[in-house]
Amino acid sequence: MMEPYRIKVVEPIPITTRSYRERVYGEAWYNQFNLTADDVTIDLLSDSGTGALSAEQQAAGMRGDETYAGARSFFRFRDVVEDLTGYSHIFPVHQGRAAERILFTALLKPGQISLGNTHFDTTRANLELLGCVVRDIPCQEAKNLDSDDPFKGDIDLVALKKALKGPDDVGIVLMTITNNGGGGQPVSMANLKAASKLCRKHGVPFILDAARFAENAWLVTQREEAFRDHTPLEVARLAFGLADGCVASLKKDGIVHMGGMLGVNDPELAKRCELLLMATEGFRTYGGLSGRDLDMIAQGLLEVTDPEYLRARAAATEYLAECARQAGVDSVRPAGIHAVYLNAGRLLPHIPPSRFTGHALASELYLAGGIRCAELGSLYLGEITESGELITPAPFELVRLAIPRRVYTKSHLEYVGETLAEIAKNVEKVPGYRLVEAPAILRPFRARLEQVR
Ligand SMILES: Cc1ncc(COP(=O)(O)O)c(C=O)c1O
Repeated sequence: MMEPYRIKVVEPIPITTRSYRERVYGEAWYNQFNLTADDVTIDLLSDSGTGALSAEQQAAGMRGDETYAGARSFFRFRDVVEDLTGYSHIFPVHQGRAAERILFTALLKPGQISLGNTHFDTTRANLELLGCVVRDIPCQEAKNLDSDDPFKGDIDLVALKKALKGPDDVGIVLMTITNNGGGGQPVSMANLKAASKLCRKHGVPFILDAARFAENAWLVTQREEAFRDHTPLEVARLAFGLADGCVASLKKDGIVHMGGMLGVNDPELAKRCELLLMATEGFRTYGGLSGRDLDMIAQGLLEVTDPEYLRARAAATEYLAECARQAGVDSVRPAGIHAVYLNAGRLLPHIPPSRFTGHALASELYLAGGIRCAELGSLYLGEITESGELITPAPFELVRLAIPRRVYTKSHLEYVGETLAEIAKNVEKVPGYRLVEAPAILRPFRARLEQVR
C-alpha cells in the first residue's frame, strides 16, 4: 500500500485529552458538525474537498488566468474534461450540487420520476425541490452487508426494466459511481451497459453522478474480468460514453478543495443549462470558479487516474477495514475505496436504534480518540417525530469513515484501528443518545442530542 508520493508540506494536527473532548463535545450538543477543526485529531467526516494538492496542482494554480470571459484556464479545464468524458458540452460549476440543480431544472418537470442505484442526499434534495419523485432501486446484493459480491453498487436491472416499461413518467435514470449512499460500493461496467441500453430503448436520459469516477474505474479493473487489462482511464472513458451526460463534484476525484462540472451531449439541453449556469453560477467559461481552480482541477483529473495512486488508495481503505476487523468491528464488505462503513448495529447490540446506535459509535470514536466521522443510521435516515422519537429505523446502523485523498498515513489509520479496539473492549460502557432538538430538514447538521446512560 506504499503511497506513490512523499510529503512536502505538513500541517500539525491537534492532540487533545479525553476530558477535554468530553467537555467540547458536550458543548457541541453531541453533534460532530458543531466541532471545530481545532478539536479534531483525525478528520474522517468527509472525503469531499479535503484532499491534499500535488506540487503540480499548486503550480497549475499559479498559471490560473482570471480573465472574466474566455480565460485560458477554462480551455485547459475543458480539454481535459472533454478528453475524459467525450461530452460535447462541458460546464464548470462551483460544486456538484450546482450541476445537479442546473441539469434537473433544465431537464425535468414536476411529478417526473428519477430512478437511481442510490441518490446522494443533495441529489435527492435538488430533485424533490423541483417536485420530482426519487426512487432508489439498488441491487439485491446490496442488502447483505457481509457478502463479498464485487459490485454491490449496481442498480437492480429487473426493477429498472419494470419501471421503464410501466405507466410512470420516468424523467431520468441516475447512476452514482461509486455508490456513496450504498456503502461506497462500485458499479460494474456490465450493469452500466445494461442500464444504458434500457434507457436508450425507452428514450430516457441516462446520467452519471460521477463524483468518484476514477475510484469506480479502479475497482472495475480489479473486480470485473472483462476489464482486467484496461487502465482506469480507459474504463472511465467507456463509462462516460455509456451515458448521455454527467454531473460531478470534483471535490472528490478532481482532488481539489472546490469545484464541479456538468457535461451533456444534447445541444438543446446544453443551451438551457448554459442559461441557468450564467444566471446562477457565472459566465460559461468560469461557472462560479476562479481560473486557478479550473487549472488545479485539470491537473487533478490527470493525476487521479494514475493506477499507482488508485492502487495505494484502495489498499489504504482495505487496510483500515482490516484494522477494524482485527479490533472486532465489522464493516460493509467488500471494502470500497473512499470510505469504510462500520457496522455499529452489530458492535453495540445493547443500544437500540431508538438510542441511535450509529451515532453512539461515531461519538465514541470522537471521545476515545478525537476521530470525527459520520453516522449513517437512524439519526440520518430514520423517520423521526418533531419531538425526537424514532418511528422507523434505518435499515442499518452504519458509521462512515471517509478517507481524505493523500492526507493521512498508515500510522494515522493504525491509530483509528487502535481506538476502535479500545472501544470494542468496553462496548457496554458506550452510552446511547436522545434527541433534544430534531429539525425536520438537514437533521444531522442541526440536531442537538444528550447522552442516555
Ligand atoms: C455521490 C455524490 N454526489 C453529489 C455530491 C455533492 O457534491 P458537492 O458536495 O460538491 O455539492 C456528493 C458529495 O459528497 C456525492 O458524494
